[in-house]
Amino acid sequence: MNELLFDPETHRKAGRLLGELLANYEIDLSNQSVFPQINRDAMQAILTEPFPEEGKTLEELFQEFREVVVPNSTHVAHPRFLPYVLPSSNGISAFAEALASTLNQNCNLWTLSPAANAIEQRVISWFHELFSFPKGSGGIITSGGSMANLTALAAARDTYLGNSARTEGIQGRTSPLRLYVSEQVHNSVDKAAVILGLGLNHVCHIPCDPQFRIRMDLLKEAVLRDRREGFSPFCVVGSAGTVTTGAIDPLDALANFCGEEHLWLHIDGAYGALAILSERMRAQLLPAGRAHSLSLDPHKFLFTSLEAGCVLVRRAEDMRSTYSFIPSYLSMVSDTDFLNYAEYGPQLSRSFKALKVWWSLRAYGRKTYAKAIDNLCDLAAYMGERSQAEPELELMAPVTLNAVCVRCRNLTDSQNERVLARLLSEGIAFLGRAEVKGKFCLRACFMNLRTTGEDVDRILDEMIRFGQEELRN
Ligand SMILES: Cc1ncc(COP(=O)(O)O)c(C=O)c1O
Repeated sequence: MNELLFDPETHRKAGRLLGELLANYEIDLSNQSVFPQINRDAMQAILTEPFPEEGKTLEELFQEFREVVVPNSTHVAHPRFLPYVLPSSNGISAFAEALASTLNQNCNLWTLSPAANAIEQRVISWFHELFSFPKGSGGIITSGGSMANLTALAAARDTYLGNSARTEGIQGRTSPLRLYVSEQVHNSVDKAAVILGLGLNHVCHIPCDPQFRIRMDLLKEAVLRDRREGFSPFCVVGSAGTVTTGAIDPLDALANFCGEEHLWLHIDGAYGALAILSERMRAQLLPAGRAHSLSLDPHKFLFTSLEAGCVLVRRAEDMRSTYSFIPSYLSMVSDTDFLNYAEYGPQLSRSFKALKVWWSLRAYGRKTYAKAIDNLCDLAAYMGERSQAEPELELMAPVTLNAVCVRCRNLTDSQNERVLARLLSEGIAFLGRAEVKGKFCLRACFMNLRTTGEDVDRILDEMIRFGQEELRN
């Protein structure tokens, strides 16, 4: 047997070691500090290890993982890890990942991945159903929201450019393309604009209302002014969950406006779109299905492990126009039951990410997701209410989804920064940083399935205590 392969007994042993590791990790989690006491010697040993000439045993590898990798890792699954839109992953994902690796399907051509192809199609069509996308819509699983935004905006650009998209691109145009976003847009959209050659000077950041939603009046003014001045407005990006405060742009108004002005509407719902699984959020998020394209992240509100994003596009053909290249060495067989995903996105080789999304949905179902999302929004609402009730704290933005921006009222920005740093260094909580209304604040984004109201109380109590100490010093 080839030495790179495992015999059946070794497979079983590796499976047992993996199962034990997962179970023990779960049990130990709450006793760990959120951020590790990094063992610099252990890190140096990794950084300077010579290229391995000989292999190690399975036991040695697992032992090293337990003793070196785990204790020097940030415990994203810890109940008080709340800095980003980064959830603890659900139980099933780790196993789906292992199985996806076992089959090692290449999800580019359907002939290399028939069952995976059907699974990806079904997952995408379930997402279409959630948002009432029409027949003929397309979509693809991506590595995350950033890639979903980039994938969609390339299709938007090329649809605008039409026949010259492939041959001329944006070279030589006298009327620059213009993209409209709110001031609260996620930086992945700016990044995509740069990658697509639009240039940041042609990304118009429209101011927001007091709820951090794009100002429609200012958007209209900007588009009309730019047209008069000889620019080519082609696309508006709305947010279903802005990264700082979780605000949801007026999606219906955006869809109406883009319809009237013949602009592509992309909704960045990487953060919030899948909160549509909650009945409470459904009405507000449903109009995202009126967009030309929508990003959503299963590795956020479906709690799959990293990486799993997704982009839906209203006309599948618009994706093919951008992404379909058929080199002669690939035998792309067409079949009415299957799609060649290589024609719908930038990647050729693609892993079987759809499995963990499919299994997550089927293992838990909509009702369980609705409960989990509602619970996280309730925790955020509770933190928001307590922050408002505490005279020493200041809630900086309305709580719409599951993000809370709060600061110690009587402290300067740098004192608030120190409070944030102490929460982390004393192993209490890992919160994020944000700037709201020109002030520094601490941000808790409730994505963690283990967080409770007691964790919220502990964080706020410690914030108040550290704030008082800052004032005394
Ligand atoms: C609104 C929004 N868009 C895009 C992204 C980028 O998503 P990803 O990290 O999956 O690339 C994020 C990440 O938090 C986000 O909140």
